[in-house]
Amino acid sequence: MSDVHLIRVTVNGRAHELAVESRRTLADVLRHDLGYSGTHVGCEHGICGACTVLVDGEPTRSCLMFGVQADDSDVETVEGLADGDQLNPLQEAFSEHHALQCGFCTPGFLLLATALLRRNPNPTPDEIREAMSSNLCRCTGYAPILAAVRAVAEQGSAAEAPAPPAEAPASPAAVAGASAPPPEAPAPPAEAPAPR
Ligand code: FES
Ligand code: FES
Repeated sequence: MSDVHLIRVTVNGRAHELAVESRRTLADVLRHDLGYSGTHVGCEHGICGACTVLVDGEPTRSCLMFGVQADDSDVETVEGLADGDQLNPLQEAFSEHHALQCGFCTPGFLLLATALLRRNPNPTPDEIREAMSSNLCRCTGYAPILAAVRAVAEQGSAAEAPAPPAEAPASPAAVAGASAPPPEAPAPPAEAPAPR
């Protein structure tokens, strides 16, 4: 029996159809087969949350999900947050509050916060802390991350948190890696804040 399966998955509004080995994680499918390398892989054990994406709107550790399980799903990655060069309110707030240094954890935190603010546009500080506690950052510290999310909530910018993208026309049936890679995750600010 073949262990390769044809799946259809929509990523940031763009439909993909590709052949995926059953052992391949969603993180690897996104990064290596489809080119969405803004999804970062840290521990590969479900601990750090760096690989967090949204699957049908829910924060999901893509290192713990097989690609074949994403068949017929809508996936959102960090590449879908900005509108071209225009960062979304959460990305702006992360930059403004120095909520990133190396940026490795940032895509996961941004998607975690996106899901929180869609579900609860006015979270309390405790609710933000609880939601963000599932992910790890090894260099910035958590206070600026919490401050950035709180700032977006307080400014009422939560309403601008990107809704799930409208479905784009399906790309031609493709085997793994055939789709054009999307742009990388937004770069950290030029001046990184001093380590804390
Ligand atoms: S890489 Fe997936 S949780 Fe760490
Ligand atoms: S791990 Fe470096 S910014 Fe979070």
